Amino acid sequence: MNGNSLVLLPLFAIICLFSSESVATEDCSIYKSDLNIISLNPFYVRTQYYPTITSAAWDGVQITAFLIKNDRNPSSNIVCLKNLTTLTVINTNLTLTADIRNLLNLTRLVIQSNNETIGEHLPAELGELALLTYLELVDLGQLKDIPQELKQLQTLKLNGLPNFENISENLLSLQTLQIQNCKNFTQLPSTVNQFKLLSSLVITETNLNTLKLNDLSYLSAIQVSKNPQLTTVTLINLSFLSVLDLSMNLNLTELTVDNLQKLYSLDLSYCQLEIFPETILKLSSLEILRLQYNRLTSLPEQLSTSLPKLKVLYLSSNKFQGQLPLKLPVLANLKELYLSRNQLTTLETIGQYQQLSILNADFNNITAIPMEIMQLLLTLQNLDLHQNSLTSVPYQMSNMAKLQTLNVQLNDITYQEKQNIQQVFRQTSISVTL
Ligand SMILES: *[C@@H]1O[C@H](CO)[C@@H](O)[C@H](O)[C@H]1NC(C)=O
Ligand SMILES: *[C@@H]1O[C@H](CO)[C@@H](O)[C@H](O)[C@H]1NC(C)=O
Ligand SMILES: *[C@@H]1O[C@H](CO)[C@@H](O)[C@H](O)[C@H]1NC(C)=O
Ligand SMILES: *[C@@H]1O[C@H](CO)[C@@H](O)[C@H](O)[C@H]1NC(C)=O
Ligand SMILES: *[C@@H]1O[C@H](CO)[C@@H](O)[C@H](O)[C@H]1NC(C)=O
Ligand SMILES: *[C@@H]1O[C@H](CO)[C@@H](O)[C@H](O)[C@H]1NC(C)=O
Ligand SMILES: *[C@@H]1O[C@H](CO)[C@@H](O)[C@H](O)[C@H]1NC(C)=O
Ligand SMILES: *[C@@H]1O[C@H](CO)[C@@H](O)[C@H](O)[C@H]1NC(C)=O
Ligand SMILES: *[C@@H]1O[C@H](CO)[C@@H](O)[C@H](O)[C@H]1NC(C)=O
Repeated sequence: MNGNSLVLLPLFAIICLFSSESVATEDCSIYKSDLNIISLNPFYVRTQYYPTITSAAWDGVQITAFLIKNDRNPSSNIVCLKNLTTLTVINTNLTLTADIRNLLNLTRLVIQSNNETIGEHLPAELGELALLTYLELVDLGQLKDIPQELKQLQTLKLNGLPNFENISENLLSLQTLQIQNCKNFTQLPSTVNQFKLLSSLVITETNLNTLKLNDLSYLSAIQVSKNPQLTTVTLINLSFLSVLDLSMNLNLTELTVDNLQKLYSLDLSYCQLEIFPETILKLSSLEILRLQYNRLTSLPEQLSTSLPKLKVLYLSSNKFQGQLPLKLPVLANLKELYLSRNQLTTLETIGQYQQLSILNADFNNITAIPMEIMQLLLTLQNLDLHQNSLTSVPYQMSNMAKLQTLNVQLNDITYQEKQNIQQVFRQTSISVTL
């Protein structure tokens, strides 16, 4: 059923009368149906909804979803689609006016790349749309804020807003907040700890300077990364938080965490840390810790007793020298240890890691694999020691029952010795790279 072309002609006269910008409020009484309304756009509107091209969801009576993409001059009568629940405008030049208040059924609004027509502020009347819970704003050059009146949102996603400064203080129903690539954004509202339903927070590539969150009991994931001005992060009493990504914050110097009972993954990679933040020792449920690409030279003694559940530890590309950086007793449950690109010279104490299945220590200066490695007979699966200073490999390792791969490329092993190693390991299922 395609009624567009039928109604287009008789209503053509109306478009000329009512599309004038000087009319402050759209007169919606002149339209017979939703189909009449969308037919007045100066471009083809499919009446079956496709999520990637200009189209509308029409059920024979009403339009419930409308997407305009890459089509200029959309008709301002869009605000007469009273049953619209989803509106998406991408790279159009639609202007949002106070008339947006007509769309009482609107639940989702997405505005992307409407540079010329979305100015510094959105209409306050958006606050009157009680059902509007999802707002996504992308690539808008001038927008500075969202209206204080907008209190009902559950999801707010902002991306590529170079002039954006503040989110509203009143977003007390917010569950998901994403602020990405907004260079003028420097601070969350002081009321953020009253956003009690917040469950997911993403802030990347902004100039946020401080993150202080406490007592948000639904918050389960935080990704706050690539914020070069971020110096201080304080997270307390986030009882549901399980994943915390603070990577690539080059100025992060003050980290305070406490009472994060469910936290199992912490990412502090690429943060230029010179000293291990002692506060991490309070995260007793931690299972995965990423600290690669920092400038650490040592780890605290208490690490193994404070983080008893740690299974995966990334320490690659730091400044550890000589001995393995973990003090005895070592982490009893550690399964994966990544130590690439440090300046280690020995693997002494490696036999203590009772659960270790992956050890990666390539690009170091390790001179020998100690015989105690045989204590990992039933756990070690992958050993990568390429680019070190080994002169051989213990032949006994051919008996390591779980070992699948052994990489000792680019060491100081002579041609003759490589032949010997090959001879021994050829009979096993271990894949050796020499
Ligand atoms: C939208 O773009 C068209 C074509 O570029 C232009 O003629 C029109 O004035 C623009 N409308 C608004 C509201 O900016
Ligand atoms: C469509 O919108 C009209 C006007 O607001 C309303 O009376 C009607 O109940 C709506 N229809 C549905 C199915 O929501
Ligand atoms: C649309 O809004 C009207 C008036 O608020 C309401 O009665 C109706 O149930 C809504 N329809 C939908 C599909 O939400
Ligand atoms: C919108 O503005 C942004 C930043 O000012 C710019 O990068 C982007 O190319 C513009 N998009 C359009 C469609 O003009
Ligand atoms: C950001 O804010 C500063 C002043 O606070 C202003 O001068 C600048 O134009 C804003 N926009 C961008 C893109 O930096
Ligand atoms: C919004 O941010 C700017 C700059 O960060 C600040 O000066 C202003 O007070 C903030 N406004 C509100 C309402 O928080
Ligand atoms: C870190 O912060 C200082 C002081 O605010 C600033 O001068 C410096 O540029 C920041 N570093 C980076 C990598 O942005
Ligand atoms: C954290 O919770 C404890 C106990 O529930 C409470 O005493 C303390 O004030 C809270 N701290 C913060 C910063 O909210
Ligand atoms: C490895 O150790 C040797 C001798 O101790 C030293 O000459 C060399 O510079 C070291 N290489 C690296 C990459 O540290």
